[in-house]
Amino acid sequence: MSEVSKGLENVFIKATSLTYIDGEAGILRYGGYDINDLVENCEYEEIIHLMLFGDLPTASQLQKIKEKINESYNVPYQVFEVLEKLPHDADAVGMLETAFSMLSSFYNYPWKKDENKWRAIEIIAKTSTLVSNIYRIKEGLRPRLPEPSDSYARTFLETAFSRKPSDEEVKAMNATLIIYADHEVPASTTAALVTASTLSDMYSCMVSALAALKGPLHGGAAEATFEQLKEIGDESKIEEWFDRKIIKEKNRLMGFGHRVYKTYDPRAKIFKKYAEEIAKTPEAKKYLRIATKLEELGIKHFAEKRIYPNVDFYSGIVFYSLGFPEYMFTTLFALSRVLGWLAHIIEYVEEQHRLIRPRALYVGPIKRDFIPLKYRE
Ligand code: CMC
Repeated sequence: MSEVSKGLENVFIKATSLTYIDGEAGILRYGGYDINDLVENCEYEEIIHLMLFGDLPTASQLQKIKEKINESYNVPYQVFEVLEKLPHDADAVGMLETAFSMLSSFYNYPWKKDENKWRAIEIIAKTSTLVSNIYRIKEGLRPRLPEPSDSYARTFLETAFSRKPSDEEVKAMNATLIIYADHEVPASTTAALVTASTLSDMYSCMVSALAALKGPLHGGAAEATFEQLKEIGDESKIEEWFDRKIIKEKNRLMGFGHRVYKTYDPRAKIFKKYAEEIAKTPEAKKYLRIATKLEELGIKHFAEKRIYPNVDFYSGIVFYSLGFPEYMFTTLFALSRVLGWLAHIIEYVEEQHRLIRPRALYVGPIKRDFIPLKYRE
């Protein structure tokens, strides 16, 4: 052992049948199915079945998943009580961490092969309740339990906004849920795997994953990208902004670049299409125009380094058009990704479990003679 893989680049932490990425060609498949086909044709609940049970469901299997979700939305009232007591400007991801951590006290289930997947579906349902209510609490609205509808996406929007969403909004929300559902082993999934490898409970694994997701280099990028659009503010200022912030000051262009994709992230293309469909207000249309031009400039400048738009470049415009403020963007990512985190930890614990315990290459002094305190200078 003589080399450190900085950032664990090109280290395989597990085998997986869940998600395949070809970073050179810009291909993403869940269980062998192309992401574009899945987003175009499936409900998120079908992806839940695909990720947890290995294939797309039959009609009756789908019904069973939906029934399990609909009966699992409940969360203990104490969780809402605590969330309501947090400061008004509490970080939304921090609130979700708090809630998951409370649920790990309520539901500290041991790992059991015939139960794990159904427990995972309970967690997915409760995540919808938590994320919609984090929005409500931060907006000063009373928490409410979801009233089950025909789809996970619809129930989520209805709970958050207390109104019936349009079919177009449900379609965009459903697409968002599928696009972010899994992406192999980014930092958050790896954090969940490390925790799962100790056989800690599933909710604690979700807390680990969320903590890693929160940073601006990972899940926080959608919010940071949208901040850029707001900071630019007007199409006429894009070039000056890019020249100053990115070229002269050498800041990172948020929503660009990826450890695995060395071309256009296929998810960015899908989000762009949905952003074009759903951005209806003059403000949303303005942000879309700014993003489109910023993308052109970014590609012109960074293509040589193989840095292209990633999933977070257009997702913020979709979230914003659905009615969510920026502080919710990372929790919306988490709402979807909770599926990938759970599917990966279950795959790992059930099929390839071993404690994750890497080594650090020691480079300090090998041996030193001890000097008592009074003789140290
Ligand atoms: N803007 C400017 N330069 C960049 C960018 C960027 N967005 N991304 C990478 N680079 C440069 C970086 O400065 C470095 O240049 P040099 O070799 O001259 O020092 C080189 O590319 C390699 O950077 P790295 O950080 O070692 O590469 P990485 O593989 O760790 O990068 C990344 C992955 C996502 C951390 C990075 O691209 C980045 O910081 N992007 C901006 C944040 C972002 O959009 N994150 C979302 C990622 S996708 C969704 C998710 O994971 O949640």
